[in-house]
This record gives sequence, structure tokens and C-alpha cells, in this order.
Amino acid sequence: MKLHFQLLRNMLIYILSRNRNSYSTSRLQEAALGRGHRVRIVDHSRCELKIGTGSHIYYQGKKLETPDYVIPRIGASLTFRGSNVVRQFEMMNVKTIITANGLLKSRDKLRASQNMVHNDIEVPKTYFPCLHNSDISYMMDQVNGVPLIIKHLESTQGLGVFLAETETEARKYLDEFNKNDVKYLIQEYISESKGKDVRVFVVGDRVVAAMKRTAPEGEFRSNIHRGGTGQSIELTKEEEELAVKTAKVMNLGMAGVDLLQSDRGPLVLEVNSSPGLEGIEKYTKVDIADAIISHMENTVKK
Ligand SMILES: Nc1ncnc2c1ncn2[C@@H]1O[C@H](COP(=O)(O)OP(=O)(O)O)[C@@H](O)[C@H]1O
Ligand SMILES: [Mg+2]
Repeated sequence: MKLHFQLLRNMLIYILSRNRNSYSTSRLQEAALGRGHRVRIVDHSRCELKIGTGSHIYYQGKKLETPDYVIPRIGASLTFRGSNVVRQFEMMNVKTIITANGLLKSRDKLRASQNMVHNDIEVPKTYFPCLHNSDISYMMDQVNGVPLIIKHLESTQGLGVFLAETETEARKYLDEFNKNDVKYLIQEYISESKGKDVRVFVVGDRVVAAMKRTAPEGEFRSNIHRGGTGQSIELTKEEEELAVKTAKVMNLGMAGVDLLQSDRGPLVLEVNSSPGLEGIEKYTKVDIADAIISHMENTVKK
């Protein structure tokens, strides 16, 4: 440990977070302090961006000291604003574990799927209808009919994800979404995954932890926020390589990569750029916060 501190100058790290008391923010703060760094929690919703003679960020009326590194924890409701704040830090030559581009690429489920497939990463068969679509039978056929999944493009915690088991249910959801001008996609239902998926936590180019999540009885969504439970698992070589490749393709220095174990092999369901630490640290007992800070130190040394 001593040698480590001698070789590496201590960093000033900003955690971009709106909730200093959240488990993930507190753990990252604790890990960074524990490794001898200075840490400040900066609420990205309160950042003012000054662009003109150089790039600067003002916070609570004062110019922010330029940090060495930022850890963005940007929630879905502030993707646009948060990505602009992260980009401003990039303009100031500050390192960030999540780039503005990576955040934008991964956040929208359609855009993320396009990017993944373009890089030969398999995803469930997905369909994005044209505007003013009315032929619901045709739309259902595009993903091999019912049962099928309908989801909001920016869903989180499983809240915008629906399973239509019958044609009548599918019509009800699609009519409702079309009426309310909700942006959605339609996806084949991977029934063999049976309410289970795999959350892989990638930091840099390695997997630091993985858990299998299981949905509660009567629920197809395995999100911990929807009552799912986790269990530490060993990944296959294929799953491990797939998760690392996905994080890399999406330009994310850390990522929660969600896999479905389908009959045709692992499929990437989505990639989270602000993956929560609470569930996965609890179920796998891995100190993920420490792994993140340690990775940041290594990239600075390079
Ligand atoms: N195509 C699918 N086939 C089977 N299960 C799915 C499918 N899409 C989503 N699910 C289930 O629903 C959960 C939430 O979907 P996801 O796309 O990850 O949305 P969110 O971002 O809201 O978590 C997943 O963790 C998985 O358990
Ligand atoms: Mg998810």
C-alpha cells in the first residue's frame, strides 16, 4: 500500500451525483477516500457551463476547481443535461470513467442495440415501427408474434417494460403508447430465460463481479427494484468476453452489462452506464467501489 501511495499522486475526484446519501455514491466516496484521494460530490443539475474563452464550470456561483477525474452517476431523467456537463469536463481535459458519448450511446435502448449489432454483438430481435403506424398485426409479426416485449426507449428499473402474452394485450399496449406518443420498441420475448438475467459488472477491460438475478413469482422482470434477488455466478468464457466487448464498444470505463441466457447463446439485453453497487456488492461480496477507484488510478498512471 505504501509503495502505491508513493508512486501515485493523490487525485481530486468529483462524483457527479444528485444524491450524496445513495449507497453507490457513498461507497465510491468511501473507497476513494480510503485510497488517499480527495473527493467532492457535485450535483450535475446545479452546474452552469460557460463556453467561450475556454470551457469552465460554475457551481453554486463559483468556478469549480478542475479535478483529475470524474465519476458520472447520471440518472435517466437528466441524461441530456448530465451528458453536457460530462462533455464540459472532457473539454477541460479531465478524465471521466463514463464519457458523454458513452452515456448517450448506452442510455437509449434502440441506439444501444443498433451500436451493439453493428459490432457483431447479438441482441434479442428488436423492431422500431415507423411513425403513424397502424398495422399492429404486421408489427407483431416482426418479432415472431406473441408473447412479445414492449419497452420504452429509456426505461430503467423495469418500469417501462411490458410483456404481452396475447394479441389483445399487445394491441392494448401499442394503442396506448401510440395515443400518448410514447417512444417504444418491440422485442422478441426470450421465454427460456424465465424471469432470469445476468448482471455483469465490467470495470475497464475486466469483469469484477457477476450475479444471476431472478424475478419474484409471477413477474418476468428480474430487476432488483422489482423484487428480484441475486446470486453470485461464474460466467462462461463466452459470457465474460461478450460483456467486456460490450462495455468497450459502448465506450464505457465501467458498465453493468445485462445478459439473457437464450437457447442460441448469451444475448445482450442492455448496458447501464450508472450501474448500482448495492445489489451486486451485497450478493457477490465483491468490493466494486474499490475496483473502480483502483482502475482509475491505473489509467492515470498510464
Ligand atoms: N426480450 C426480453 N425477453 C425476456 N425478458 C426480458 C426481455 N426484455 C426485458 N426482459 C426482462 O425485463 C427486465 C427489464 O428489462 P430491461 O430491458 O433491462 O429494462 P430496464 O432498463 O427498465 O431494466 C430484464 O432484466 C429482464 O428480466
Ligand atoms: Mg435492465
